[in-house]
Amino acid sequence: MNIELRDGQPLRPGEVRQVLHIAEEAEAADGSPPLSEQFRLSVESGDPDVTHVLSYAAEPALAGYAQVRAGSGEEPPSAELVVAPDWRRQGVGSALLAALPQDARVWSHATGRAAAAADAFARAMGLEPVRSLHVMGRSLVDGPPWPAAAVPERYSVRSFESGRDEDAWVAVNAAAFASHPEQGALTRRDLEQRMAQPWWDPQGFILVVDESATGDTDHVAAFHWTKVDPPDGDTGEVYVVGVCPDRQGEGLGKAVTILGLDHLKARGLRDVVLYVDEDNVAAVRTYANLGFTDREVHRQYARRP
Ligand SMILES: CC(C)(COP(=O)(O)OP(=O)(O)OC[C@H]1O[C@@H](n2cnc3c(N)ncnc32)[C@H](O)[C@@H]1OP(=O)(O)O)[C@@H](O)C(=O)NCCC(=O)NCCS
Repeated sequence: MNIELRDGQPLRPGEVRQVLHIAEEAEAADGSPPLSEQFRLSVESGDPDVTHVLSYAAEPALAGYAQVRAGSGEEPPSAELVVAPDWRRQGVGSALLAALPQDARVWSHATGRAAAAADAFARAMGLEPVRSLHVMGRSLVDGPPWPAAAVPERYSVRSFESGRDEDAWVAVNAAAFASHPEQGALTRRDLEQRMAQPWWDPQGFILVVDESATGDTDHVAAFHWTKVDPPDGDTGEVYVVGVCPDRQGEGLGKAVTILGLDHLKARGLRDVVLYVDEDNVAAVRTYANLGFTDREVHRQYARRP
């Protein structure tokens, strides 16, 4: 088996086509895309923090592909891998995995039987699940109704205002997600990048504010940033919900989640999804109580210590 590494180097156009082709074949065979959005985008772009691993069992046909991205700060690198359906159970996956850094964490986005295959593969390779990300969803037109939002009297509700709320939001997001590696690290620049996306809609970025707060950045008590991507689609996303830590326990998380659901329903959308870490018990419980159920589970595997 021939393994080729592209460390910080972009793939050549022919390689990009082959990688996307086996990803499509895997999706058709497995019923779920093997690469998540960021990894798929990096197949086509020359991202310096990314290493591509190509496995040729019989050149010129590509049999498998893996991608590793450097983790932010202290985080270990994360990886995704896919083997073309015709080349499975022939050691390609094992060879790709052996080419990854020892501490890399490997994502499985598979569902159903493919998830069981990924799990069997990971365990055979000495990996164990270390993190589970649940995709939960509910209908906005059917299913159990959600209650009216109960916002305590001293707060008011309004949409995010560009040029006014950026620093306050970055501060409350960092505080609310202090123990969440990716979300808590978002900077003003990251926020502004998202504000430049076609799906950006400040009307769907709901803030619960304390107008009596005196500091520049302490007026945002809770927020629910909803996302509709593509903007003309019929599915909305609970993109991020956060409550300032010193205001937790007042019912703001539930209230602001409901305000977002009301907004998405009023936009005429039919369905809503969200991503939540399994160990975020409070959030999972809030969503389950509002009628969300599991749609998919994405797992991250790591080598046993
Ligand atoms: C999971 C995947 C990468 C495995 O690739 P592969 O090339 O078939 O894996 P290997 O041939 O190296 O398998 C190594 C061992 O893993 C285990 N394994 C692999 N696939 C398995 C399956 N479908 N069922 C049970 N065990 C399996 C076996 O122990 C196997 O050894 P064996 O064939 O000698 O019994 C491949 O099925 C795939 O691309 N799936 C879709 C993408 C995905 O889920 N990626 C996340 C992986 S964590």
